[in-house]
Amino acid sequence: MLTNPTTEPVPARTKDQLRFITCGSVDDGKSTLIGRLLHDSKMIYHDQLMVLQRDSIKHGSTGNDIDFALLVDGLEAEREQGITIDVAYRFFTTSRRSFMVADTPGHEQYTRNMATGASHAQLAIILIDARKGVMVQTRRHTFICSLLGIRHIVLAVNKIDLVAYNKECFDRITRDYLAFAAGLNFTSIAPIPISARYGDNVVDRSARVNWYHGPCLLEYLESIDIQSGTASQAFRFPVQWVNRPNPDFRGYAGSVASGRISVGDEIIVAASGRTTQVKRIVTHDGDLVGAEAGDAVTITLEDEIDIGRGDVLSRPDERPRVSDQFAAYVIWMDKEPLAPGRNYVLRIGSQTISSSIAAIRHRIDVNTSEHLAARTLSLNEIAFCDVATTMPAVFDPYDVNRKTGSFIIIDRYTNRTVGAGMIAFPLRRATNIARQALTVDRRERAALKNQKPCIIWFTGLSGAGKSTIANLVDQKLFAMSRHTMLLDGDNLRHALNVDLGFSEADRAENIRRVGEVAKLMADSGLIVICSFISPSKPERDRVRSLVGKEEFIEVFVDTPIEECARRDPKGLYSKVKSGEIKNFSGVDSCYEAPTTPDVHLRTMEQTPEHSAEAVLDVLMARSILAG
Ligand code: ADX
Repeated sequence: MLTNPTTEPVPARTKDQLRFITCGSVDDGKSTLIGRLLHDSKMIYHDQLMVLQRDSIKHGSTGNDIDFALLVDGLEAEREQGITIDVAYRFFTTSRRSFMVADTPGHEQYTRNMATGASHAQLAIILIDARKGVMVQTRRHTFICSLLGIRHIVLAVNKIDLVAYNKECFDRITRDYLAFAAGLNFTSIAPIPISARYGDNVVDRSARVNWYHGPCLLEYLESIDIQSGTASQAFRFPVQWVNRPNPDFRGYAGSVASGRISVGDEIIVAASGRTTQVKRIVTHDGDLVGAEAGDAVTITLEDEIDIGRGDVLSRPDERPRVSDQFAAYVIWMDKEPLAPGRNYVLRIGSQTISSSIAAIRHRIDVNTSEHLAARTLSLNEIAFCDVATTMPAVFDPYDVNRKTGSFIIIDRYTNRTVGAGMIAFPLRRATNIARQALTVDRRERAALKNQKPCIIWFTGLSGAGKSTIANLVDQKLFAMSRHTMLLDGDNLRHALNVDLGFSEADRAENIRRVGEVAKLMADSGLIVICSFISPSKPERDRVRSLVGKEEFIEVFVDTPIEECARRDPKGLYSKVKSGEIKNFSGVDSCYEAPTTPDVHLRTMEQTPEHSAEAVLDVLMARSILAG
């Protein structure tokens, strides 16, 4: 999860690979530690070593000794010159184990980078400068590691040489750390006194720390028993694509996310509940009898059932959760803050689902683990949220399965990854509430009224003339014996939306509610006229997606802001000028004009009457007013 594909580690089938992250700043000796590990475990190639020796004498801070930080920092500088790569993965192998180290660049590790690295890791090395002890950033790193499901910690108390190999100092830091980490759900915490610079207890045990009898760092990393075994978890196979080269073959391609499966095993499609058996497990190198976590395979089934990309295959007695509402930890990764209620794309495994953050339950101060109230989230902030999806999502809680329990959030317009999340649990509301089928359907309701329902959505600045034109359209339709309803921003803000203000989040919620109400009215067969500034394009698009684009007519009431201010029908622009009103659309709050409205009304060039007629013409042309 959590990352852009170019920095994804290779999903190798490595049974005895330990994936770890190092947390700490360059000042704590992080680069030196990684460099030392690579060097002392003989993982640095000879030519690199020569260059390093030369550079250490030239630029280093360690006299004639090798400055290991230069090795790692050099790579870091290279990386910083190129386009940002959030996380680099280094691989090294000893005779006992292979390792993958996630290294997050930058002096200051931001939540986003750290979370990306931590999401793949089984263990974290928390580096502490022995002179400084447990710091705010130690807490932050530890908390994020816990949140991201890391259960094993090595507390590397570094620069032990600088405190004269003092045992009391080490004991005090260990005590402080254990007290703080007690509630964070770790399975093991191993404190080790080290000096990355001199190599004490990194790869070789040090005689200078004669009071320490535990293993050195590498020895510990080589021997720790990490029972992460994704192969022993419940079987999950997210379908990536349907492979249908000819009418005789229909296979489902993807990677086994967890567990194992064999030919002949019973499986169920999580969302639909249809069951069948595995017929074949096909790979490039021929058929297999079984497949397990990490294997990329194509599965064929005994029965022809409807399965598409995003479906998840599991065993019938170990089904994942299916819900359109769940609680999750969300890490915000974008400069633009999160807008609750706004429509985002959620990607969970191979599922791509339209969704929104329905509510922020609380934000978490990552430095203190404190819960805080929040209405929005800024870059690098973390919150516990309720997430709503427009169709049921298939998932597991993150602490059960990191692969099927995590998601990324994508801005549908910029296509940027703006957030990432870890699912805590499905919300009972959604799991226990099934949709009730209505016998009279929307077509019949509309037929009784002898009309085609639709939503006519007026958008534009305050004072642009939306309400005036919407009202005229309503009158004209009424005169034509059409069944209509007019929803107007000012009116709804006195009733249904009386609790909302004009922040971006409140406006998103305003339009979400109005959209739902308008949809219900359209379902009952009405022509619904809506008049709202609705400054944000994604919010308007979300309403469109509720009814479909044939039933949504977007009318852009285009009046330049100077003209709106000149007309100032409610005296609001003069209040804005005198500073009485803030967040005013078009002034100090953004208005995103539609780029391809269904009707574009330039009110400087035509009367309200003409504008209303222009809307009716489009309704005619779309045969909404036929018959
Ligand atoms: S929207 O932005 O959330 O779509 P809506 O259409 O419901 O707004 O309400 C806008 C009306 O509220 C305006 O026509 C105006 O009368 C009033 N209003 C009061 N304060 C503001 C403000 N800061 N920005 C815009 N409209 C405001």
